[in-house]
Amino acid sequence: MDSEAYELSVNSNLIRIAAGSEQGIIYALTTLVQLMENGTVKTCRVKDEPRYSHRGLSMDCARHFFRADEVKKVIEEISLAKMNVFHWHLTDDQGWRIESRKFPLLHTTGSEYYTQEEIKEICEFAKIRGVEIIPEIDMPGHVSSILAAYPDLSCSHKQVSLAKTGGIFPVILCAGNDKTYEFLNELWQEIFELFPGDRFHTGGDEAPKKEWKACPCCTKKMQDMGYTDYEQLQGYFASRINEIFKANGKTAVFWNETLRSVSNLENAEIQYWTLQHRDSMEKYADTKQKWIYSDMFELYFDYPYSMTNLKKVYETVPHLGMRQVDKSDGLQGMEAAIWAEHIQNEERLENLLFPRVYALAEILWASDNDYQEFEARLAENIKSDLHGNIAYTSRDWWTPEGQARQMEAFAYMKSMNDGMSEETKAETVESTAPNREFGEVFMTKFFQPEDLPILMAGMNQKA
Ligand code: ACM
Ligand code: ZN
Repeated sequence: MDSEAYELSVNSNLIRIAAGSEQGIIYALTTLVQLMENGTVKTCRVKDEPRYSHRGLSMDCARHFFRADEVKKVIEEISLAKMNVFHWHLTDDQGWRIESRKFPLLHTTGSEYYTQEEIKEICEFAKIRGVEIIPEIDMPGHVSSILAAYPDLSCSHKQVSLAKTGGIFPVILCAGNDKTYEFLNELWQEIFELFPGDRFHTGGDEAPKKEWKACPCCTKKMQDMGYTDYEQLQGYFASRINEIFKANGKTAVFWNETLRSVSNLENAEIQYWTLQHRDSMEKYADTKQKWIYSDMFELYFDYPYSMTNLKKVYETVPHLGMRQVDKSDGLQGMEAAIWAEHIQNEERLENLLFPRVYALAEILWASDNDYQEFEARLAENIKSDLHGNIAYTSRDWWTPEGQARQMEAFAYMKSMNDGMSEETKAETVESTAPNREFGEVFMTKFFQPEDLPILMAGMNQKA
């Protein structure tokens, strides 16, 4: 039996569970509890196993710090939906959220954080619910919180502050200086000891090369290595990090931009989120190495329901451009992500997550899916007192239409736009270098044709 598979049979005098592993037993017990009505379970026989092995949610606790109890609440909820991965985005330009005994300036400079005790407790909480925690320390970009504490790790060594808004910031780790790798080696050792899992996410997204280009150390490394393009230096950086992981028997996960500069990161996994640099992602899928699907147009739950509605999530079919992909292409599963630049409180977080998380959970587990049937069942299921006190989005907003949809989508786009200084906006646009394909997909996935004029007019209006 597959390690996550289980069989559950209930008759008038016996409940019997057979499972491929402890994980399967957790799912059998979860099903049993879900079938219970007034303390009894009707006679039944269930034979069940998941469609994908990686069924995840990524949550950003760096941009907005969520209390340990809220983190547990989310983990509890995804485990009830039989999801098995909680990817914990713990560091970014806006904050450092891990107590570090080796480098305490990280958490004391980086604002609110989880103590090591809290982290261990959350990991244990997740483990007994069958959820793997993949902590992410993003690098070489998104590191203002590292550099605010240890400015010598950047190319310029200049003091930087934590970011106050979203955006892509040019200050990144120096890739040419061996001291960077010595520091990261020490840091990762501490992280490897703190978290019990085998997989750790090391980011690799959105790393502008401006500072590397002006750095004597990085430029010398370029020459020594015979590189002609500063992107290759990110490949070098990623390889050095991957060596640290391999030496410690751990598996690294990288965002898909990393493939721009390096095609073979032995033993690593890739998380696909952006169609930019899709060529390299397609080549990677050809090799059938492991990867996870997190397309931002379908599975980024920080976008409101007016841009990514429940039906769209439920009908997600993993694809790279026109090419449909599946397990035969190395695909392990899918993961939704929720980024917290624009999330101010727990209620909003829960609103954005639920019920979209259930839509994803269901298509990750089962193959025969019908949206209408799912929606009707969902409306009943969320009334169950198995769920905690969750701030669900109400049914009329699951798949909003008409003017209400337009208003919400525009308000969101406007708040993203208005939230950034002109300088940050310029850096962000330059770093993402949105091409025509990206623009077209953005419009067609998030908007409808009649929205375009209103959208343009709204964006140009001063706040
Ligand atoms: C990402 O959204 N920058 C991974
Ligand atoms: Zn440098």
